[in-house]
Amino acid sequence: MLNKDKIQGVDISINYCGLKLQSPYILASGPLSFSAEGMIKAHEYGVGAVVTKTIRMGRAINPVNHITKVSGGNTLLNCEKWADTDKELWCSREIPMAKEAGVTVIASVGHTLAEAKLIVKDVEEAGADMIELVSYEVETMLPMLEYTLKTVSVPVICKLGGGWSHHAEVAKKCIEMGANGICAIDSIGPALKIDIEKASPELQSENGYGWLTGSAIRPFSVRINSEIARENPEFKGLYGTGGCMSVDDTIEFLMVGSNAVGVCSVGILNGIEYIERMCYGLSKRVYELGYESLDQVIGAALPKFKNTELITRLDFNFTAHGTLDKDFKNKCIKCNKCVKVCSYDARVLEFPVMTVDSELCRDCGVCVSVCPTASLTAEFADQTETDISKANESLEFYNIVARENM
Ligand SMILES: Cc1cc2nc3c(=O)[nH]c(=O)nc-3n(C[C@H](O)[C@H](O)[C@H](O)COP(=O)(O)O)c2cc1C
Repeated sequence: MLNKDKIQGVDISINYCGLKLQSPYILASGPLSFSAEGMIKAHEYGVGAVVTKTIRMGRAINPVNHITKVSGGNTLLNCEKWADTDKELWCSREIPMAKEAGVTVIASVGHTLAEAKLIVKDVEEAGADMIELVSYEVETMLPMLEYTLKTVSVPVICKLGGGWSHHAEVAKKCIEMGANGICAIDSIGPALKIDIEKASPELQSENGYGWLTGSAIRPFSVRINSEIARENPEFKGLYGTGGCMSVDDTIEFLMVGSNAVGVCSVGILNGIEYIERMCYGLSKRVYELGYESLDQVIGAALPKFKNTELITRLDFNFTAHGTLDKDFKNKCIKCNKCVKVCSYDARVLEFPVMTVDSELCRDCGVCVSVCPTASLTAEFADQTETDISKANESLEFYNIVARENM
C-alpha cells in the first residue's frame, strides 16, 4: 500500500468504474499477475487494480523462451499464451486470496463466447470486482460483451486488440452496448526477432513470431486512446495500456483522456517495485506541472487537437552554463547530439557558443528532442495556424497543373 506521507504532490487515488483505486496504475494481464502472490505484491507496491492473467477453459503450455527484450530499448517481444493454470484454481484460490488481501481484482476472460459462457459468472462469484474481456477478433468480442453484460453485475471492460483497425469505432460500439470500461490496447504483432548468433528466430513459437509491448508501441497506443477519448467525451471508463514505462508516459496517457493507465512491460523489466516509485513520482510531477489534481490532467491535451497545421519558425534558446541540479537539467554536457542529428549541418557548437544557420535550418525540432539536459530548447516564433484545407487546396492546384502537363 502507498505511504500517504510520501505523496508530496497531488492525490493520485482515482475512481474507476465506481471503485476507489489507490493509484491510476492497473497491472495489465501478464506474467506478473500469474497468481494471487503476484497480484498481492503488485497491490502492495501501489497499483490501483490488477488484471489476472487471461483465464480460459484450458491451461496454456508455453514454448520455452517466450519473452525476449528487443535490443536498444524498453520493448519486449513475447509469445506467452493465456494463464497456465485452470479456471478452477483461479476461482478457488487466486481470486479469493487476492481479494482477502485487499486487492482490486479484474478477471481477464478470453477468448471466445463459448468460454465466456463458462467463466464469467464463476469469476464474479469468486469475488472479481470487474471482468475484462479479451479476444482476437472484434466479431468475437461483441457477443462476449453482450452475454457478459446480461450475466454479471460487476463492471465489464473490453480490451481492444492492438492489430484491430478502427479502434475508436469499435470502442464506441462497445460503449453503446453498455461496456463500463475500455482498455486500449493489447500488444501489437505478429513481429519477429532473429538471434543472429544462431541464425534463427529467437522465440520458440510455432512460426517464431511474437507480440510487441513496451515503449515501441506507446505512440501508437496514445494515438488510439486520444481518438477514443475524442469520440466519447462523456465516457470515463477508458484506460490506456501499451508502453507506459515512466511517470511522464503516464501523464501522456492521462492527457489524451485515459482515466487510468495499464502497466505490464515496465514491471517485467524493472520489477513491480518500480511502480511504487512511479506512484510517488507521478504525484510530484503532476504538481510541478501546475495541476492540482489528476482530474485536471485527464484530457488536458484534447482541446489542442485542431484541424490546422502550425507553420512557423523555431526560436532556439541555448543555456551553456545552466544550473546543474540533481537531474542535470539546463546545463550543456557537450554531448554534441544536437549537432550530429542535424541533417542539414545547420548547427555548430563551439562551447560555450552554439550557432544555428537559419538559412539551412528547416525547424524540424529533432535537435531539441535529443538534448538530454534540456539546455537546448525552442519556442514557436508565432502561433498562427494554417488551415489544412487551404494547404490541401493549394496541393490540389499543383496536382491539377501536374496532370494537365502530363
Ligand atoms: C509476457 C506478456 C504476457 C501477456 N499476457 C497477456 C494475457 O494473458 N492477456 C492479455 O490480455 N494481455 C496479455 N499481455 C498484454 C498486456 O496485458 C499489455 O496489454 C501489453 O503488454 C501492453 O502493455 P505494456 O506495453 O505496458 O507491456 C501480455 C504481455 C506480455 C508482455
